[in-house]
Amino acid sequence: MSGRTPSSPSSPASPPRPAPPPSAPAPPAADRASAGARPTVALAVSGSIAAYKAAEVARLLIQGGARVLPIMTRAAQQFLGPMTLSGLCGEPVRDTMWDPAFAGELHVALAAEADLVLLVPATADLLARLAAGRADDLVTALALCAKGPVLAAPAMHPRMWAHPATARNVAALAADGRVQLVGPVFGEVASGERGLGRMAEPAAIAAAAFAQLAPRDLAGLRVVVTAGPTLEDLDPVRFLGNRSTGKMGFAVAERAALRGAQVTLIAGPVSLAAPPGARRVDVRGALSMRAALWQALGDDLRGADALIMTAAVSDYRPAEQHATKLKRTPDLATLPLVPNPDLLAEVGAARADLAGAARPDGSRSPVLVGFAVETASDEGVIAYARHKLAQKRVDMIVANHAADSFGRDDNRATLVTRDAADALGVLPKPALADRILDQVSRMCAR
Ligand SMILES: Cc1cc2nc3c(=O)[nH]c(=O)nc-3n(C[C@H](O)[C@H](O)[C@H](O)COP(=O)(O)O)c2cc1C
Repeated sequence: MSGRTPSSPSSPASPPRPAPPPSAPAPPAADRASAGARPTVALAVSGSIAAYKAAEVARLLIQGGARVLPIMTRAAQQFLGPMTLSGLCGEPVRDTMWDPAFAGELHVALAAEADLVLLVPATADLLARLAAGRADDLVTALALCAKGPVLAAPAMHPRMWAHPATARNVAALAADGRVQLVGPVFGEVASGERGLGRMAEPAAIAAAAFAQLAPRDLAGLRVVVTAGPTLEDLDPVRFLGNRSTGKMGFAVAERAALRGAQVTLIAGPVSLAAPPGARRVDVRGALSMRAALWQALGDDLRGADALIMTAAVSDYRPAEQHATKLKRTPDLATLPLVPNPDLLAEVGAARADLAGAARPDGSRSPVLVGFAVETASDEGVIAYARHKLAQKRVDMIVANHAADSFGRDDNRATLVTRDAADALGVLPKPALADRILDQVSRMCAR
């Protein structure tokens, strides 16, 4: 978009760029998403005090791998500076259809680019104009022209939301079926009063946006994901643990569920919310993770089509778990440990046995994916991943560095399979999750 459109009055810092040659229409969002391309969101902001939260929505969308084209109504610019959005999005803010420097129809061009039109916040006035089918500014003209879904996050005083006129407009939009709403929610509004009218939280809006954008290419696939650390108790107040936060596994579970898979997420102790649509099983130590895993897979491994083991399972646990708190004593200078089962190797071995014996077609199901986190050099990590792949008899190892991974929102990983090592560079964890799932989907189809 920005390639064709010189700066608008609200984006003086954006220099005009040459027009690219005419191109074929963009493929549908689903095809592009599964091909690894970034989905494009036209984020339109209207005039509510909640407008400042649109910046956080933009950040979350970008973090999740989307390209964001910011648009603002005139009123929105009373509440939020356009530079905030253009700076975050790396795109000029559009605020008018009447841009003499744009050769063409800006609302049509934006609609052609956008896989999703997202209205955050949506004022009562904007809902009224949408319901009436008006197209008297860039935002309404774009919404009317959208080729994909339009999602609106209303924000207003509870009496405005409860007003029969707003209710009538919302009902008309629902009847037309062209604009979906996320929120509003019950809570405190700008005046300090409480009621239904507060805008949905930015994370919920971003999640709803990604749900609209996701292809449903994993429908019918049963995916089990393990995530987070395991904590190995020594006594009621002490444990052995590690620095895993669960972000990677939760991203895999979330993306798999958004793409239509039936997801079981077996999670060690983490402070993350369950991804929408995933069945979550909470566990603590390696032994309880093992029990939950076999419960999900079944003895014959027919309970899942793919197992993605992102969990950082402790290699050892204290030899004894004490029922009461251990007292400080000079004798306890060393802590006796016992090894935990290697869950990935266990499932790899069981699958190899079943493929040889119980399955006449010799099929290798479920597809098995492990993670290898190391602190060695890049070459060291990949060599270790190859060794792990063969030794544990799995299909893919996601190799990464502890420093690039633990607790971060992005990750630099290499997908190591029997015949390839695909270095992906730094990606937000949801985008890396998609690349892993793309590969899993190909392996399941074999
Ligand atoms: C301080 C202030 C706060 C406002 N907050 C809201 C709001 O939260 N929701 C709403 O629907 N309108 C709100 N309005 C009214 C809208 O800004 C007004 O209806 C405007 O015409 C909306 O234009 P737009 O939809 O094109 O952005 C507010 C107005 C002011 C002055």
